[in-house]
Amino acid sequence: MRRTTTPTIAIVGAGRVGRALARSLRARGWNIGAVVTRSAATARSAVRAIGGGHPHGALTRRVLEAGVVLIATPDDCIRDLAIQLARAGGEEWRGKVVLHTSGALDDRLLAPLARFGAATGAMHPLQTFSGRGVPLLEGVAFVIQGRERARQEARRIARALGGAPVALRREAKPAYHAAGTFAAPYLLTLVETATRILMRTGFSRRRARAALLPLIRQTLANYERFGARKAWTGPVARGDLSTVARHRAALAEWPEEFSQSYAALARLSARVLDAHPERKLKQLDRVLPKSNKS
Ligand SMILES: NC(=O)c1ccc[n+]([C@@H]2O[C@H](COP(=O)([O-])OP(=O)(O)OC[C@H]3O[C@@H](n4cnc5c(N)ncnc54)[C@H](OP(=O)(O)O)[C@@H]3O)[C@@H](O)[C@H]2O)c1
Repeated sequence: MRRTTTPTIAIVGAGRVGRALARSLRARGWNIGAVVTRSAATARSAVRAIGGGHPHGALTRRVLEAGVVLIATPDDCIRDLAIQLARAGGEEWRGKVVLHTSGALDDRLLAPLARFGAATGAMHPLQTFSGRGVPLLEGVAFVIQGRERARQEARRIARALGGAPVALRREAKPAYHAAGTFAAPYLLTLVETATRILMRTGFSRRRARAALLPLIRQTLANYERFGARKAWTGPVARGDLSTVARHRAALAEWPEEFSQSYAALARLSARVLDAHPERKLKQLDRVLPKSNKS
């Protein structure tokens, strides 16, 4: 039978992700229970940002008052927290759901809680949370993994937030998270790299940003409308190898990461975007020496 009551959710780790998810759930009528951070001050500030919940500057048995516990701490803390929570609650964990929000890690981190009968899982929103307000959650993929009861609760949370639940195998999580890392933080790395290069050619940071944003937006719009292959432009797409060689020479005066990344990205473009990758890669070999670093 479908459950209609709204459970209370406790938040362990209320930083960028914990605050945003709790705030959105609260806005949709969910009860927020204990909100745990590492100091009384951050816990109070988290409760203010969420608009509900009870602040705790250290782990507390009060989290056991909630039916669902969301762990949104840095990845490296989750295993220890699971051990501490398991010790604090013992058999009281039976029937409760514990989810963490790590993208790369799976439910095995929560094994100490599972041993006491908690339904454990992971729920990762494929979105970037900057800590400034709540990002768009409508239509966002919430990648879910874990035990059936935990997956069921995670789907319920995802749908309540307007997200799209996606099931993923445990083994696929690191590769899945690497994909997200290409799409968001590394995208930013590329934009900042372009900005720095423009600034050395005489642009102010402001002008560089203003110049790059229309280019980036149009590229994404083309990708959305026509797909990656048709949106692909530039010297590697055209096979303008002398231009690629000029780029390489221009980047020689920058720290080596610039030319290495340029060469790696040119090859990756050939691999994932060109209709004949092997042929394009051979052409690129003539103008871009392969790095001897791994
Ligand atoms: N940021 C993103 O874009 C994003 C997106 C999807 C998923 N995630 C995942 O979400 C999780 C949290 O990331 P985040 O960016 O929100 O991290 P964050 O902003 O650094 O927040 C971490 C929170 O955990 C608390 N914390 C740290 N150690 C703790 C401990 N031992 N006990 C209790 N609380 C502890 C911190 O307390 P204080 O407030 O006292 O410092 C803070 O409230 C990670 O697993 C991350 O992989 C992040």
